[in-house]
Amino acid sequence: MDQIVIFDTTLRDGEQSPGCSMNLKEKIEVAHRLERLKVDIIEAGFAISSPGDFESVKTIAGTVKDCAVASLARANAKDIDTAWEAVREAVSPRIHLFLATSPLHMEYKLKMTPEQVLEATAAMTRHAKKYCSDVEFSAEDATRSDWDFLVKVVDTAIRAGATTVNIPDTVGYTTPSEMRDLIVYLRENVPDSDKAVFSVHCHDDLGLATANSLAGVLGGARQIECTINGLGERAGNTALEEVIMAMHTRPGLYPYFTRIDTTQISRASKTVYNIIGQTAPLNKPIVGRNAFAHESGIHQHGVLANKQTYEIMTPEALGIQTNNIVLGKHSGKHAVEERLHELGYSLTKEELLACFAEFKDLCDKKKEITDDDLGAIAEHCIRSEEDVELKGYKLNWFSMHTSNFTTATCTISLEKDGEKFEDVCLGDGPIDAAFNAIDRIVQPAEHTFDIYNIHSVSQGKDTLGDVTVKLVSGGRTYTGKGLSTDVMEASIIAYITAVNKLCAATEKKES
Ligand code: KIV
Ligand code: ZN
Repeated sequence: MDQIVIFDTTLRDGEQSPGCSMNLKEKIEVAHRLERLKVDIIEAGFAISSPGDFESVKTIAGTVKDCAVASLARANAKDIDTAWEAVREAVSPRIHLFLATSPLHMEYKLKMTPEQVLEATAAMTRHAKKYCSDVEFSAEDATRSDWDFLVKVVDTAIRAGATTVNIPDTVGYTTPSEMRDLIVYLRENVPDSDKAVFSVHCHDDLGLATANSLAGVLGGARQIECTINGLGERAGNTALEEVIMAMHTRPGLYPYFTRIDTTQISRASKTVYNIIGQTAPLNKPIVGRNAFAHESGIHQHGVLANKQTYEIMTPEALGIQTNNIVLGKHSGKHAVEERLHELGYSLTKEELLACFAEFKDLCDKKKEITDDDLGAIAEHCIRSEEDVELKGYKLNWFSMHTSNFTTATCTISLEKDGEKFEDVCLGDGPIDAAFNAIDRIVQPAEHTFDIYNIHSVSQGKDTLGDVTVKLVSGGRTYTGKGLSTDVMEASIIAYITAVNKLCAATEKKES
């Protein structure tokens, strides 16, 4: 069987899309998840794009041991030098350079002739090769390029030392049969095609990214570029979980193997969603809440008789345990730990203690604690470790007044280093009033909201509200999370946490 190399670009193509930005700590957490999932290559960022990206690529390169680490670079010497600086400490570094090859991109974006593109392909691939034996060349917008010109570009890249040649469907334009034919055409017409791994990188503008990637593999591609949950520019990239489970479920059609540990998929998906403050659409393939739910009587009857009637894969294969023991206020630490373990969490002693305390708190407000509640508590505790160390403002109490015929007000009491601060503000709604009051007390540096997101962890009106606030200031993102059955409280805690981080960064800069 042939191996399909899994190149994950959640931290580059995924992270660069709107609403998906992550800070350094969050990127490192995702990188660890990807390592446990056993992807082959982590594209950790685009090193030259910002000092923050450079720092995170470098840190991930120095941390990750079991995957290659790549940085993206445009086809120019400065980008490539910076990419190399960022990945050079990795156990297996890769430089990934790209240059557009479609008539549209060459004429209007690059303002280069096809001959100039061929020259730059040769010169810049050679430049990358001086640093690194593992060089990937991407022909951006390949699927809208002239096929014979693409043959020349790929041939040039391979001759100059590229070990992987990537054929991106940058704008999600191609179809499965066309993608397959293109890969076959390139492999048959590029003289040294056997000297490099062919790769596909598909965007999902027409909802065809997974199908196109799999078709590329049938045409001879041996690397798939993808992201967790399909994050990525516009409609996103190929979802890792979809291509992996398609190959896993239909080995007769796809007789290939990957290193991926499928039992890590659910956990990786949840971590990424939690970090970006989103949840999976209910019907999202593989990772949506309804992916294994059977509502209609006919389906339920079938599944009870034999799961395979309506299930083509098992939740267990994705690391989802389906035992139905319900936890509640009589459950002890042991039972909580055991359940967390089954859900894929191996927590430190401190994280476990924090989880158990939050679990007990929740038991006072809610009779039955679901796996979703427990997972949200675990994610919250893991992510709050840094917040505990942060010396900043803490919420004492708040009082809100809101109605549909008056302006909302919030009075808030915060505490810092034993000193108490109170203020009251009006707002367009209770949250706006609360955030205004916090701003009046804390006076954080100028910032904008990247995200203010509330989602309910489970069904029912007593559900936990999971709030994510992401503030952007000076090109950096500051994240705060809040988890409570009271969404006002969760929002206030999330905002205070984000503001504390922003203040700590401002103080550090000033000192
Ligand atoms: O979509 C694309 O073409 C890319 C390249 C940079 C590989 O993301
Ligand atoms: Zn892309």
